[in-house]
Amino acid sequence: MKVLITGGAGFLGKKLATALSADPKWSEIVLFDRIAPVGLPEDDRFTIEVGDIRDPVQVGKLVTNDMDLIYHLAAVVSADAETNFDLGMDVNLKGTHYLLEAARHSHADPMFVFASSIAVYGGDLPEVGDDQTIITPMISYGVQKTMGELLVQDYSRKGFVDGRALRLPTIVVRPGKPNKAASTFASSIIREPLKGLKAVCPVTADSRMYILSPRKAVDALLRGAALPGSAFGWNRRLTIPGKSFTVEEMAESVREIAGQKAFELIEWKVDPMIQRIVGGWMPDFDASRGMQLGFEADESIQSVVHAFIEDEIEYQN
Ligand SMILES: NC(=O)c1ccc[n+]([C@@H]2O[C@H](COP(=O)([O-])OP(=O)(O)OC[C@H]3O[C@@H](n4cnc5c(N)ncnc54)[C@H](O)[C@@H]3O)[C@@H](O)[C@H]2O)c1
Repeated sequence: MKVLITGGAGFLGKKLATALSADPKWSEIVLFDRIAPVGLPEDDRFTIEVGDIRDPVQVGKLVTNDMDLIYHLAAVVSADAETNFDLGMDVNLKGTHYLLEAARHSHADPMFVFASSIAVYGGDLPEVGDDQTIITPMISYGVQKTMGELLVQDYSRKGFVDGRALRLPTIVVRPGKPNKAASTFASSIIREPLKGLKAVCPVTADSRMYILSPRKAVDALLRGAALPGSAFGWNRRLTIPGKSFTVEEMAESVREIAGQKAFELIEWKVDPMIQRIVGGWMPDFDASRGMQLGFEADESIQSVVHAFIEDEIEYQN
C-alpha cells in the first residue's frame, strides 16, 4: 500500500513518516516538500519528492492511481501566513485545492487526512468550546484552514476522496529552533530552559493554550486514517482532544522538572501581535466527540515535558 505525506520534511511530517515506517503494510511512503527531509531513519520504502505545492502540474503528478492514503501537512504556519498574505493563500488554500483535485482525478479514491488547526476558532469565543462552536477564524491562517476543511468536506460528500480534517491543538514541545508560528514560544519556554538557554515569553502568564504533545499528535494522525469514514459520519471535521494550560502552568512545569535556574531563563516580555493572536484562540475545548472516536490527549503538562525529554534531548537534572 502507498501513502503520501505533503510537508514530509516538516516537524510532524518526519515524525509521521517514521511512525508509518513501523507498519509493514506500507510498501511506499512518499514524502513531498519544498525541501528534502533530513534525519529520517534509513528505509528504502521512503521516496523523496522535492517540489512546490503551489504548482498544480507537479501536484497533479504526485497522486498516482495506486495512492491509498494522503496526509496533507504542507503549510505556511500562522504568523508567516499573517505577514505574507499571498503566500498563505497560495500554499494553504490553493495548494490544498490542487492536491484535492489531483486526488479526485487520480481514480485512486484515496483517503485524505488534512492537518487542520484549532486556529479555525476565533472571535467571541466561549471559555470552553465544543463541536457546536461556530467557526469564525480571526487570522488568515485560520481562514485558509477553514476553507481547506470545507473543501475536504465537500470532496468527501461528492465521493472524490474519503476525507477527514483533523483540527490539531498547538503542538508542544516542538524540537529544534523557533519557527514562524505565533505559538512557537509555547515550545521555546520549555525547550530552551531545559537546554540551559534563554527564552522570551511574549504573552502574559495567565494566557491559556490548548495543547497536544508531538507523540499524541502523531497518534492522532494515525488514528485519523485508521477510522472508517462512517465513524465521522457527515461531519468530516473534528477537533482533536488536547489539554488546556496557562502559560504560567507551562513555565511552572519547567521549574518543577528542571529547577529554579532553568525557570529563571524565561524572560516575560509581551509582544502585542502575538498576544492578540494567542488571545483570540480557543482557550479550552470539550472534545467529547474526538474522545468517543478514540483520540487521546496528554495526561498532564509534566507528561508533555517528560515526553520531550525522552524523545528529543538527553537531560539530567
Ligand atoms: N505544529 C503545530 O502546532 C500545529 C498545530 C495545528 C496544525 N498544524 C498543522 O500541521 C501541519 C504540519 O505542521 P508542522 O508543525 O509539521 O509544520 P512545519 O512547518 O514543520 O511543516 C510544514 C512543511 O510544509 C512545507 N511547505 C511549506 N510550503 C510548501 C510548499 N510551497 N510546497 C511544499 N511544501 C511546503 C515546509 O517546507 C515544511 O516542511 C501543518 O499543516 C500545520 O498547519 C500544526
